[in-house]
Amino acid sequence: MTHGIFITLEGGEGAGKTTQQSLLAKALRAKGLEVLATREPGGSPGAEDIRRLLVEGEVERWTPMSETLLLLAARNDHLARTILPALEKGTCVVCDRFSDSTIAYQGGGMELGADMVRELSGPVVGEMAPDLTLILDIEVEAGLQRAETRVNGEAENHIQRYERMDKEFHERMRQCFLDIAAQEPGRCVIIDAAQEMDKVHGDIMAAVNEKLGARLP
Ligand code: TMP
Repeated sequence: MTHGIFITLEGGEGAGKTTQQSLLAKALRAKGLEVLATREPGGSPGAEDIRRLLVEGEVERWTPMSETLLLLAARNDHLARTILPALEKGTCVVCDRFSDSTIAYQGGGMELGADMVRELSGPVVGEMAPDLTLILDIEVEAGLQRAETRVNGEAENHIQRYERMDKEFHERMRQCFLDIAAQEPGRCVIIDAAQEMDKVHGDIMAAVNEKLGARLP
């Protein structure tokens, strides 16, 4: 039985999820909630090790199936060691990416198929679903451009593996996120991530208040 609120942020490259995650966590703490901000792939020591296998190296490094299984291994560890214990304590968990990313990136982008990803995910996530999923949507070209600027800004010496995948990959992935939002309007809200940072945060808080207002202090 879980008690804490579970919120996930989803979207393509350069959508600004990480910035919005910290703004959201701060706003929820200001309301008096205990908040844990975490991410996928990662969020536990083992899952952070697996993350490096995924975000570094050649684009063709993994088959879609082996990549999905790595992501699910990381998710299993993250759930068992970080997310579920926090939710059980009543902590609100705000996670940068979760299951929808696997459906969109591996199911859509890498063309393994959304149904196959859902089937493989079954034993790992079970009935566990976020209370709210914020899908930060931005046009592919604009998002990739932002991601590139961010890498240069941070003087990182490599562009992440997923940012090097072709435009068609990113278009399929974006469409997949939009399909998920259409299929699950109760859980998902699409946020226009092309707007100014403050406006995006405002839209996120409006969605949180609308969908979760009754559970907030
Ligand atoms: P980040 O850039 O949002 O930190 O995420 C790292 C990369 O991992 C991102 O480019 C998308 C990718 N990813 C997947 O392909 N499938 C998944 O299930 C998850 C969680 C992330």
